Amino acid sequence: MDVESIRKDFPVVDEYIYFDSACLSLKPHSVIEAVKRYYWEFPVCEGKRSSHTLSTRLTREIKKGRESVRDLLNASETDEIAFTKNTTESINTVARGLDLRKGDKVLTTDKEHNSNLVPWIKMKEKRGIKYEQVATNDDGELNMDDLKDKVDEDVKIVSMVHTSNLDGTTTPASQIADIAHENDAYFMLDGAQSVPHRPVDVKDIGADFLAFSVHKMLGPTGLGVLYGRKDLLEEIEPLTYGGGGVKSTKYDEATLQDSPAKFEAGLQNFASLAAVKPAVDYIQKIGLKNIEKHELKLNKLATEELRDLVNIIGPEDPEKRSGIFNFQMDQLGCHEITLLMDEENILLRGGQQCVHSWYSFHGLEGGNRASFYLYNTEEEVKKFVDVIKSLLG
Ligand SMILES: Cc1ncc(COP(=O)(O)O)c(C=O)c1O
Repeated sequence: MDVESIRKDFPVVDEYIYFDSACLSLKPHSVIEAVKRYYWEFPVCEGKRSSHTLSTRLTREIKKGRESVRDLLNASETDEIAFTKNTTESINTVARGLDLRKGDKVLTTDKEHNSNLVPWIKMKEKRGIKYEQVATNDDGELNMDDLKDKVDEDVKIVSMVHTSNLDGTTTPASQIADIAHENDAYFMLDGAQSVPHRPVDVKDIGADFLAFSVHKMLGPTGLGVLYGRKDLLEEIEPLTYGGGGVKSTKYDEATLQDSPAKFEAGLQNFASLAAVKPAVDYIQKIGLKNIEKHELKLNKLATEELRDLVNIIGPEDPEKRSGIFNFQMDQLGCHEITLLMDEENILLRGGQQCVHSWYSFHGLEGGNRASFYLYNTEEEVKKFVDVIKSLLG
């Protein structure tokens, strides 16, 4: 993988050491150009609403984007790919769209991002579902015995993070899918930190639903994906009702569109939709296996240099932490570290990274997360290591 040539495609990498890609990735020129092209060349509604020349052009770009996501995930049909605002909206669509009732049970891990925690807490409050979390072992891996203990005939959906934004560990998705299915439950994966970083095949895994954000995988901001098995997407209710989401209406009756249109009511984020394909193309051109290997190399370097100096959140073995290096220092608080690193143009995420529940349970203020991506270099990691060492005096 030629990182130097990749870096030429991205803005700001020469000015900053950007280690916050788990939050939002940078975008290559091809994606920025596609957004610009939308505004300059066909800044209109898509063809569901209008069928003039310019809207037809936009419709074509969106269709190509949907097709490229289908291909990326190895989904069976493009109708299984609904565009949303982000991972959060995708998970909420399933949580609120499934017909969950009092007594139905939902399982997640005990280190979910708020996006896969709050919807279930709210469903517990509002609909009386039972919501339980499966424990993580001390080595950061999911406790499969606890999962087997908690899966019973009441479980309707097992919804779990694939790769954790907290510690980079990855749940054994296909094993979990099998356990869920043996118990007649659905399986949803939060792929926000996996889809951008390694090959994810929904058929191999046996995922019924998969949520992720295009803006974390080189794509434009404010765009996510909900993958769902076709029959299941037909079954669930959309979050939003309105124009574009219906086939027809009478004064007292509305017939919803089929999937995915029923999930995309109201005017959409067209500029971003027009830039999905260039983002997916870029990732496919570099190759997700190469991206995964590169991130691991950077994580190994950071770990070797810093394992005795900082407290790593999650397993010490970098092979288990993908491109995430989240740490604490006894000598300095996480917000102080973020500011000190910022003075050196090293951009980290400090705080609780939207996994407040985990930090609060463990009585910790927060951590500093360096998350690596395809445009980061070993030199950047060395600089990061040097600055950390200098903070220790
Ligand atoms: C594991 C995980 N799930 C969900 C989300 C939420 O993503 P978004 O804010 O794009 O909805 C994130 C964002 O960092 C994440 O890392």
